[in-house]
Amino acid sequence: MTLAELLPSTGCSTEPVLEEGLWPDGTRVAGGDLVIGGLPATQLAARFGTPCQVLDERTVRARATAFRTALPRAEVVFAGKSLPCPEVYRWMAQEGLSLDVSSAGELALAKAAGFPAQRIIMHGNVKTAEDLKAALAYGVSRIVVDSLDEIAQLGALATRGQEVMIRVTPGIDARTHAKIATGVEDQKFGFSLASGAALEAVLRVVEQPSLTLAGLHCHIGSQVRHVASYEEAVRRMVGLIASCGTRISQLDLGGGFCAPYLAGERDFDLAGFAHRITGTLNYECGVHRVPPPRLLIEPGRSIVANAGVTLYRVCAVKHGLTRTFVAVDGGMSDNPRPALYGAKYAVRLVGRGGRPKPVTVVGRHCEAGDVLAEDVPLPHDVHAGDLLAVPATGAYHHALASNYNQVCRPPVVAVKDGVARPIVRRETEEDLLRRYV
Ligand SMILES: Cc1ncc(COP(=O)(O)O)c(C=O)c1O
Repeated sequence: MTLAELLPSTGCSTEPVLEEGLWPDGTRVAGGDLVIGGLPATQLAARFGTPCQVLDERTVRARATAFRTALPRAEVVFAGKSLPCPEVYRWMAQEGLSLDVSSAGELALAKAAGFPAQRIIMHGNVKTAEDLKAALAYGVSRIVVDSLDEIAQLGALATRGQEVMIRVTPGIDARTHAKIATGVEDQKFGFSLASGAALEAVLRVVEQPSLTLAGLHCHIGSQVRHVASYEEAVRRMVGLIASCGTRISQLDLGGGFCAPYLAGERDFDLAGFAHRITGTLNYECGVHRVPPPRLLIEPGRSIVANAGVTLYRVCAVKHGLTRTFVAVDGGMSDNPRPALYGAKYAVRLVGRGGRPKPVTVVGRHCEAGDVLAEDVPLPHDVHAGDLLAVPATGAYHHALASNYNQVCRPPVVAVKDGVARPIVRRETEEDLLRRYV
């Protein structure tokens, strides 16, 4: 069963059907308009301007709950980097999730949200002294250490038996994009299991009187489709637990559960994951004669990606030798993922249909690589002033946004039951100027 199948039904409609699984729950086409969270996209664009990142609160909450329901005994930790925003962190706290942060900055957002310290985990292959001090001062429950230098530094800074987890590189190729494959050997994250570095890290932590070893962690990558990759991670990590010679009470498998971006892509098989991972964990612990640790998972993208839709206004249409370019009022500053990883998106024109033709949707930035979507079908007469909607933009969009070309970053507008409210306001020129000395 997939994540979408575990969620409540989205009802039925006689209007054109949207691509399954890509849009927030309940999104529909009505009178040509696109209705998200009970509000027409044209209305949202008129009220909040474009580009505008729309986030459906019900979808976010339903996905967070789906993880907790599928794994009732596990600790579900929202990967805060996927959508850093105090209001979203508040929703997660209310849904009973924990939170992972990867810097003092993300921790500051968590504090602003009043997120309970005992449910916060701090990550990062580099944590500066400021990051560590902020984590210790707020009393975050666990810090995931990623280098011997950090173990020594944290050992010197901590005073009260700070719980730590060790980030392990299990040597697993989760068959995803190289830039988001974090479980393989010879990349910057974690301690290698194969080289013995992970075991050495265990010894170093145990030697530090101010640290308590709470668990082991691994994160094998992002957009991971195959449950088998996680099963293999469990096998290797339990093998390591058995050789630690000390009680390991938590096993954190990280995040990385895939989300669909294009029509026909499957949602992550959450029920299958829950069933197979629990079974594998119990089996491997039996074989190695170790007590099963508590499981933790850290979903980010799979909770927020499909809850988000970005609205853009078409500013110009140009006909090249072989391609038609549709230029919009945003681009790589609000979505650098196509340029970073070759990420692909679906695009829909809001308000009318028409005979489709393939076009390339490009941004407004001074880079030829500022392409949002290639070869997507839009009505042949697409023109300046049209409104475009891009689904699956809830994760790593607001988070990765920049103000390249001093283009102000778009707002994030939460929608729910016909009510819209900005939870991140649009950046202004005063915001930009504030930093210049
Ligand atoms: C340690 C860790 N946990 C969780 C995540 C979340 O991954 P995703 O958003 O793909 O679920 C990441 C993403 O980079 C990560 O580095």
